Amino acid sequence: MLLARFALILVGAAALAQAQTLRELATARGIRFGAAVNPALLNQPEYATALAREFNQAEPENAMKFGPIQPGVERYNFGPADQVVSFAIQHHMAIRGHNMVWHRQNPGWLMGEKDPAKLSAILRNHIQTVMGHFAGKIYAWDVVNEALLDDGSIRPTVWSNAPGIGLKGTDYIEQAFRWAHEADPKALLFYNDYDAEGLNAKSDAIYNLAKDLKMKGAPIDGVGLQMHLTLHPPPLAEMGANLKRLAALGLQVQITELDVRLPTDPTGHATQANLEAQARIYGDVVSLCLKYPACTAIQTWGVTDKYSWIPQEYHHTLGAALPFDENYKPKPAYGAIAQAFRSAAGR
Ligand code: XIL
Repeated sequence: MLLARFALILVGAAALAQAQTLRELATARGIRFGAAVNPALLNQPEYATALAREFNQAEPENAMKFGPIQPGVERYNFGPADQVVSFAIQHHMAIRGHNMVWHRQNPGWLMGEKDPAKLSAILRNHIQTVMGHFAGKIYAWDVVNEALLDDGSIRPTVWSNAPGIGLKGTDYIEQAFRWAHEADPKALLFYNDYDAEGLNAKSDAIYNLAKDLKMKGAPIDGVGLQMHLTLHPPPLAEMGANLKRLAALGLQVQITELDVRLPTDPTGHATQANLEAQARIYGDVVSLCLKYPACTAIQTWGVTDKYSWIPQEYHHTLGAALPFDENYKPKPAYGAIAQAFRSAAGR
């Protein structure tokens, strides 16, 4: 046993010493390092090459969301999501699914529905069909996304109470997890949200929700912390404390949508000082995750600044949020992530 463990450590150390790319470093550390993927870009050689070289995990950025994947009552559009899945399988990458229950990017036909019994049947059907389609290929799903408001209360959505699927409080969330588990019993099931990295009303509510679900025996396996950060992230100690309390519930924690947005000039570029400050944040986040065995994946929300969602979301005043610039050149953040993987202790 001891000898086997020693041999494993030696193999790990050798792999780490030889590792060049972030993918190799992450693999040597036994952690998943992923990117959100746009299938329309997979035919661009630079994009595909960087994705396969630097990441050992992929997640469709939009292609598995309700609207894109079920655009009509009886019409499913699996093509784009299948492309991401095939690429990932071909390149031996793990695949995360995103997502089943959300208030955004729902199809028009659904938003007109006002009958809880019908909405309940629609959601159950959607979960069974989509998760069934990908079963065996996706190791983890964001089942419920952003269901809580900043003050920790339940967000009013088409699923919760406007008009909702006919269940009170957080019961609709529990139901979604149970349906998801039926649809793909082997997949790890996550609750995923933003601005809940440190200690605040929302992260408290997520902790309480997860604890309650565990107590009821509902099939939740983890919490996804999106980590859409600015140059002023929550204190590291708070993020550590939050991670620790979730881990103590027996849950995995995954960093699912990491980016660090910066003020940009009209050409979309940030200052060198800010790129260096950004690098320190990326390094800190990776080091933090590596400190906790319960933290099992780190994923950036895209591959390159060229296609990041940030400029559009923030009216082109913020951007430059990812570790690769618009020419796929590694930014200081890339070096900081690599350094964090190399110097991590205790994994
Ligand atoms: C974003 C995508 O990146 C955009 O392309 C899309 O227009 C809107 O959604 N939280 C999430 C992600 O869970 O699904 C969001 O992705 C970003 C915020």
